[in-house]
Amino acid sequence: MSDSFLILGSNGQLGREFVKEFTARRIPFTAPDERDCDITSTETMATMLDGHRPSVVLNCAAYNAVDQAEAAPDTAYRINAEAVRTVAELCRQRRIMLVHYSSDYIFDGRKGSPYTEQDPAGPLNVYGRSKRAGEEAVLHAGGEHLLLRTSWVFGNGPQNFIHKLLQWSKKNPVLRLTADETSVPTCTLDIVDVTLDAVRMRLSGLYHLTNSGVASRYDWGRYVAEKLALSSEIQPASLDEFPSPARRPKYSAMSNAAMTSALGRPIPAWQDAVDRFLTVYPQH
Ligand SMILES: NC(=O)c1ccc[n+]([C@@H]2O[C@H](COP(=O)([O-])OP(=O)(O)OC[C@H]3O[C@@H](n4cnc5c(N)ncnc54)[C@H](OP(=O)(O)O)[C@@H]3O)[C@@H](O)[C@H]2O)c1
Repeated sequence: MSDSFLILGSNGQLGREFVKEFTARRIPFTAPDERDCDITSTETMATMLDGHRPSVVLNCAAYNAVDQAEAAPDTAYRINAEAVRTVAELCRQRRIMLVHYSSDYIFDGRKGSPYTEQDPAGPLNVYGRSKRAGEEAVLHAGGEHLLLRTSWVFGNGPQNFIHKLLQWSKKNPVLRLTADETSVPTCTLDIVDVTLDAVRMRLSGLYHLTNSGVASRYDWGRYVAEKLALSSEIQPASLDEFPSPARRPKYSAMSNAAMTSALGRPIPAWQDAVDRFLTVYPQH
């Protein structure tokens, strides 16, 4: 029997990509409007699960405002940890598989080479600590789960780095991007594709789900600028030049080797993902 999916956070970058893909592939799904589906409400979540009876819940909802989280830890924890605990528990009780997404910001950035699933967490900021607490909640709930850590997510909409770069370049002849901040740009197109394969294979446990390769913001920006023929000059900068409320890991790239091995196929490089993204979602 084929799976039926419930998408939480369906208006976000990743949630929207699932909606688009399920619609295109004619896969049964429910994507309640976020206003009717607040994941912090236990009653709403229970009603939602009992009403729709999905076989898989995709939790794409999150509080992702890394800097604002420093001043709003209660909100970050309520959405990224406490709500996740409740959803995980409700799914376990109903034998529903839970797919939950976490972040490279659960690492402290000091390793200097790609993090594996065996490396210890050490978040530097409130957002990272709240996401780590969410991971622990999923693991402790003990139900069927896929915990997928991803990084530097870009999908359709105004909040992704590519869109922002394009807007900045319209106003600035020079753009300074951090060369000492490294991770893996990861496209929602590939997160959706890999997630659906992993669910179909009934993989379970913790995996890193990123595109392949590593990049600094400067590398990423230069690649995009060339593809979009931006007129701005892209210059390397240091993280220290941009003081922000939240400390960020300097190196949070993660290895996707465990996932590629489980899937039996590689995950495309981030450059390939940028190329496809720009074809599917032309930027103006
Ligand atoms: N974006 C990144 O660079 C990045 C990096 C690493 C990991 N991740 C993880 O990847 C996953 C998907 O991220 P994304 O980029 O798609 O995030 P996103 O675009 O910020 O989407 C998250 C969605 O969750 C919604 N939401 C917030 N609180 C909610 C609540 N109480 N109930 C229901 N919905 C709620 C948000 O709505 P509002 O906008 O109205 O608040 C938003 O539409 C998340 O788990 C995120 O932590 C993202």
